[in-house]
Amino acid sequence: MKIITDIEEMKSVSRKLKKSSKKLSFVPTMGKLHRGHMKLIEEAKKYGETAVSIFVNPMQFGQNEDLDKYPRDFEGDVGILSDLEADYLFYPGKDIAENTETFLINPERSAELEGAFRPAHFQGVLTIVMKLFCIAEPDFAFFGLKDYQQYLLIKKMAGDYFLNVRIIPVETVREKCGLAMSSRNAYLNENDKKEACAFYGALKKTAALFKAGEKSATVLSAFVIKELIERSFKIDYAKIMDEELRMEKKTAEPGDILIAAVRFKGVRLLDNIFLD
Ligand code: PAF
Repeated sequence: MKIITDIEEMKSVSRKLKKSSKKLSFVPTMGKLHRGHMKLIEEAKKYGETAVSIFVNPMQFGQNEDLDKYPRDFEGDVGILSDLEADYLFYPGKDIAENTETFLINPERSAELEGAFRPAHFQGVLTIVMKLFCIAEPDFAFFGLKDYQQYLLIKKMAGDYFLNVRIIPVETVREKCGLAMSSRNAYLNENDKKEACAFYGALKKTAALFKAGEKSATVLSAFVIKELIERSFKIDYAKIMDEELRMEKKTAEPGDILIAAVRFKGVRLLDNIFLD
């Protein structure tokens, strides 16, 4: 695996691939790779030569968030990427984000759900992902469905700007008990992790209640909130939305999504489940 730290070098690798009619698959990450990332990379490899980027993007963290203590493990990440036989690791320096004056926003959809709790978050995400796309010019880019709102916003951005990249969603990878893989799970000890599994458990129970005939989104939301509160989760939001996340539903239908963010032992966890 070739490690590239220089922006111009990454651009030239991408140009060379294009000249030889090869496709570039791209997996942007913030490192501390886990099985969720591994699945993204395995998918990416099916589509072309694979570049993974690692950059803990300061622009997507709010002032009181965990930028400084965000888990980092460069050596471990390089080991994982080598084992997976990724072709390139793009590991840019801070200058990729510093002194940025031009930002991308989706004013309507960045303000909802995650955006309501992390006001500049999606502006930071869209801006860095656009920068990475401008450098790597990938043919395919892979994003996990755990961060469903992020996936939708990036897909919309790629469409709005006529980018020649196909945005490919990848299923959430879970611990055996259902807890969605996330770099932030590293903040939880083993016991807390076990208890955190009840988050997805509550989403699943709510989806089952829908399947059993309960269609009122008010009843379903109240149910999931009660389940979560009983297990000591602090809820930022738990809403039933249409699949484009454009509106909160009154009556739930198949294809809608129950999307939630909670805090557990001070750690913020996101997850979602589609209703069928
Ligand atoms: O999902 C993430 O890890 C980040 O938000 C991303 C897409 C790499 C942008 O920094």
